[in-house]
Amino acid sequence: MLNFNYSIPTKVYFGENQINKLGRLIKKQGSRVLLTYGGGSIKRNGIYDKIVEILNSQEISFFELGGIEPNPRLTSVKEGVRICRENNIDFILAIGGGSIIDCSKIIAAGYHYEGEPWDFFVGKARITNALPIGTILTISATGSEMNGNAVISNLETEEKLAVSNEILKPKFSILDPMYTTTVPANQTIAGTVDIMSHVFEQYFSLTKEAFLQDRLAEAVLKTCIKYGPIVVKEPENYEARANLMWASSIALNGLLTYGKITDWATHGMEHELSAIYDITHGIGLGILTSHWMSYVLDESTVDKFAEYGVNVWNIDIKEDKLAMAKKAIAKTKEFFAALGIPATLHEVGINDERLEEMAQKAAGNRGLGSFKKLQKEDILKIYKAAL
Ligand code: NZQ
Ligand code: ZN
Repeated sequence: MLNFNYSIPTKVYFGENQINKLGRLIKKQGSRVLLTYGGGSIKRNGIYDKIVEILNSQEISFFELGGIEPNPRLTSVKEGVRICRENNIDFILAIGGGSIIDCSKIIAAGYHYEGEPWDFFVGKARITNALPIGTILTISATGSEMNGNAVISNLETEEKLAVSNEILKPKFSILDPMYTTTVPANQTIAGTVDIMSHVFEQYFSLTKEAFLQDRLAEAVLKTCIKYGPIVVKEPENYEARANLMWASSIALNGLLTYGKITDWATHGMEHELSAIYDITHGIGLGILTSHWMSYVLDESTVDKFAEYGVNVWNIDIKEDKLAMAKKAIAKTKEFFAALGIPATLHEVGINDERLEEMAQKAAGNRGLGSFKKLQKEDILKIYKAAL
């Protein structure tokens, strides 16, 4: 196990009706609030009305930025910064999923920075200050509710890039599983795959003897495997929604990363797809994952895949580790297919025209991943296999 510094400062209020604490939580942080939300789901399912009722009853002033896109755009960040400055906002409440929370984090940082917020993503500036943010999570997927990451799309440059900074971690997050019962099936399955992919990126690692982290990781995977199919059939099943919601936070709040070298190659490859084709993040991951697994399977990685097969998929322990590893990868692919993830990039409107360009961008100057380092040609082969 490697050295690490533990820091998971976000206060989580988990369960039904935790929203009733909202007024008190906000008053600890600020008095002029920006509400951020997406394309309208919170207005249709009543969450917006409930929040406005609480804010009005506690006499908390608020302003709004609605319409934040899935794969949030830099333009929305800039609009948010403008509203914050014009109205002396001192706290941001993000209501939604990863897109809303990520956008809000960069609005919070952009407020204190005179230059372009995109500078944070291309290494021109470091985030050194940010407004405090809180979140009300409405979809289980990214873990953004407990981490310091933000992923923003720049349509002008066709880039989707990430930053990570301690300062961006939310002060509090309200996680009410009831709020996720209206998430449509396609987003529910994308979210479930995203959670699993976050675990894979940390689990498939060259670090030895991070035994505890690996058993925790397997527990999160098993939670998704058990409850993913249940929520698709029974969207209002509270216990299934609750287990997935907590899995999403645990998968990417740092707990599984501590003491390990992590991979993130599949995410790197997917971000290139959603940067150009604006596809749903979890769907892109679902299509790529088994191809990445098959490509990186070799003598140096076979033990880990066999361990995954035994501990997560209950595959019988046999002499032939390679057969066990292949079976584990096949099980992963079958599970994603049964959930309803498309099998190919073609099915989500991606053809071979720009694969080379995306492979180049994903590889950058230093290659991608660490479990097995991928260069441009490797990435291109994985994209082609997924086509
Ligand atoms: O916009 P509205 O109308 O609210 O609809 C949203 C949106 O269309 C809908 N939705 C959310 N909650 C709902 C609901 N519909 C009905 N009922 C509800 N309760 O779901 C759609 C997707 O929302 P989005 O916020 O985009 O989903 P997700 O949480 O999957 O976030 C994806 C974004 O996060 C980034 C992804 O790249 C993508 O941009 N990621 C962020 C990470 C992080 N911050 O740590 C890590 C991830 O790997 C990921 O890259
Ligand atoms: Zn992800």
